[in-house]
This record gives sequence, structure tokens and C-alpha cells, in this order.
Amino acid sequence: MVIFRKAHDEDVKALSRKLLLLLKDKNSQIYIDNVVKFGIPDIYVEKAFAEETLQNAIEKGRATFYLAFENNDIIGFAQIIQQDANTAELDRIVVFPPYERKGIGTQLLRFALFDMEQKGVSHVFVNTGKEEMHARRFYEKNGFKLVKEATIDAPWGKKLNIVTYQLRLGSI
Ligand SMILES: CC(C)(COP(=O)(O)OP(=O)(O)OC[C@H]1O[C@@H](n2cnc3c(N)ncnc32)[C@H](O)[C@@H]1OP(=O)(O)O)[C@@H](O)C(=O)NCCC(=O)NCCS
Repeated sequence: MVIFRKAHDEDVKALSRKLLLLLKDKNSQIYIDNVVKFGIPDIYVEKAFAEETLQNAIEKGRATFYLAFENNDIIGFAQIIQQDANTAELDRIVVFPPYERKGIGTQLLRFALFDMEQKGVSHVFVNTGKEEMHARRFYEKNGFKLVKEATIDAPWGKKLNIVTYQLRLGSI
């Protein structure tokens, strides 16, 4: 049975450990999807998922982590950053192999969005790569609407073509 919950301190530690472990395998799908495709240098990856960075995001960056567990093992997570009283950004949502495409991402997303709605958030937006068709399909299937396309300069010196989707809460 899959369980969803908001992360507490011990969970954040476990999530960081799990992500850094999974991302050590340079041939893994998760490394390819999240690192190779965007040309991100390893040093950024290690910093992005270090326990301290995740904890800082919660304490100073208004981030909330939502986790999916099976048999006490983290099998996916979503990170949402509240921008202001009404708006939040879905920063990341990942379901680890081999658990994808079983509806877990959709359930995790709904769990997180429900919590945001309870906090008074009315709009959630998400950026993804223009070519990330599986992520785009996932957002579209979950009611997000395309609102913008842009080319941005990533901090690691690459140009990225991104698309922005938005969801009005209460509309799905
Ligand atoms: C995107 C992701 C979170 C979706 O989670 P999931 O549990 O696999 O998604 P679901 O099973 O709930 O799928 C819901 C719908 O999304 C779409 N979808 C999900 N994965 C897809 C894929 N690989 N290819 C095409 N469509 C896909 C489909 O429309 C799917 O509905 P269907 O199975 O009835 O056709 C997951 O695939 C993932 O972690 N991918 C790698 C990380 C990533 O790209 N994250 C998004 C950007 S941060």
C-alpha cells in the first residue's frame, strides 16, 4: 500500500540520502531524466539534494516536501514552494523507478495540491523542459494549462527551453 505524507525532519534526511544514492548511478533513468537532460554539473546535483539544502528550503525558502512511501521506503516526492499567499510553484515531482506509470505521481500531486488549497493557495505553476514530453503529458493530464514558453539561462551556463504550466486549484 502506498502512503502519502508531508515530510518531517527525519524524512528529509532519508529523502536526501535516497536521492544522493540513486543519483550515484550515472546510468540510472533518474540521473538521465534529472541531470543529463539538462546538462547539470554533478557539483550542482550534490548541493541541490544535500540534507542541508533541503532543510534550508523548508526553513527559509517556504518549501514543503510531500512523500510517497511503500513499506517504509520513499518511492517518490514532490517539492512545492509557496511564492505568496495565493501562488505556489511545483518545483519538482519525481516517482522513482520502478514505480512510475502506476498512478502514484497523480495521487502524490493531488495530495500536495489539496494541502496547498487548505493553505489558501489558488494557483500553482510549474516549469519543465519544452522537450520533456512525459512530464508535459503528466501535467496536462492533471489539468495544468500551458501559459508560457521561454528560453532561460541556467545557473550552470546552459540555455534551456522551458514551458510554464498553471493550474487553478479547485478546477480539477
Ligand atoms: C512525471 C512523473 C512524476 C509522473 O509520475 P507517474 O506516477 O509515472 O504518473 P502517473 O502514473 O500518475 O501518470 C499519469 C499520466 O501522466 C502521463 N505520463 C506519465 N508518465 C509518462 C510517460 N513516461 N510517458 C508519457 N506519458 C506519461 C500519462 O498521461 C499518464 O496517464 P496514463 O498512464 O493513463 O496514460 C514520473 O514519471 C517521473 O518521476 N518522471 C521523472 C521525473 C520527472 O520528469 N519529473 C517531472 C519534472 S520535475
